[in-house]
Amino acid sequence: MKFLFCENILKPNTVDEAFIEEYACAIKNGFGILFYNFEKKSTTHIKKNDKMETIIYRGWMMKPIEYRKMYNDLLSKNYRLINNPTEFQNCHYLLDSLKFIEKYTPKTIYQKIENKNSINELLERAKIFDGKALMVKDYVKSEKHYWDTACYVENSKDTKKLTETIHNLIELRENDFNKGIVIREFIELKNLAKHSKSNMPLSEEYRLFFYKNELLCVFDYWEEGEYQFEHPHIKAFEQIAKTIESNFFTMDIAKDTNGNFIIIELGDGQVSGIPEKGDKNLIYRAIKER
Ligand SMILES: Nc1ncnc2c1ncn2[C@@H]1O[C@H](COP(=O)(O)OP(=O)(O)O)[C@@H](O)[C@H]1O
Ligand SMILES: [Mg+2]
Repeated sequence: MKFLFCENILKPNTVDEAFIEEYACAIKNGFGILFYNFEKKSTTHIKKNDKMETIIYRGWMMKPIEYRKMYNDLLSKNYRLINNPTEFQNCHYLLDSLKFIEKYTPKTIYQKIENKNSINELLERAKIFDGKALMVKDYVKSEKHYWDTACYVENSKDTKKLTETIHNLIELRENDFNKGIVIREFIELKNLAKHSKSNMPLSEEYRLFFYKNELLCVFDYWEEGEYQFEHPHIKAFEQIAKTIESNFFTMDIAKDTNGNFIIIELGDGQVSGIPEKGDKNLIYRAIKER
């Protein structure tokens, strides 16, 4: 099997610096390497393979429309990415993930932003939160490092604050903005610390990687908090993972103040980061062993 990494734009045929460690792990475990030109969204350096082969991308996030193009370009060269475009979007867009995780994740509403009225419609629908605290993001990402201004809203009835937060989020996401706004009930999590720069609460949170619906490995999520805990009982989440239509994905789970774990979000395994302190080799070794 081969891994497809983003190419270093300054030095063709070498890996983007952000993925140097992972690239070394892929090689160490005997995987072949291909490069994707992320800036040009191009696979032109890749020669046609003799026969169809499954490959895994590890690189920067991209929009579903870009993923579809990459997927089809590669298919024409006899390489099939581990997730087809639908499987990619299942874990990349929170609204698509909801059909698998709705029961295990905070109450969520979403609205595509198409015109001036879209935000008003969303504000209207946000009344169901009835004064609860909220967390705001787009279909894919939050601006969690601007916690107090573009992410967290203490009282859903504070329409002024909620509107400002949505506008700040859209402005900060700029060209990366993914289609629409997601509003979620904020659940008090078991706090470990506050982020030193952004004031964001750091909770006991884990990132689980699943490959072919089986658990590959578990990472502590934050670099700052001290995890003095055992890894959570993840059996229940392994069961949920079996129902998720994706061959490679992550599931972020966090402990609430009652000690129960909830799902925060899913991510496509090809574009989910490995926490900085995490051992990058875990994933590559585990995939090799399958
Ligand atoms: N509904 C929620 N209730 C409480 N905390 C949350 C909630 N959603 C997210 N968080 C916290 O905020 C962080 C960022 O949210 P997340 O949805 O993962 O955004 P991003 O896609 O930017 O990573 C999470 O890692 C978690 O600690
Ligand atoms: Mg996250």
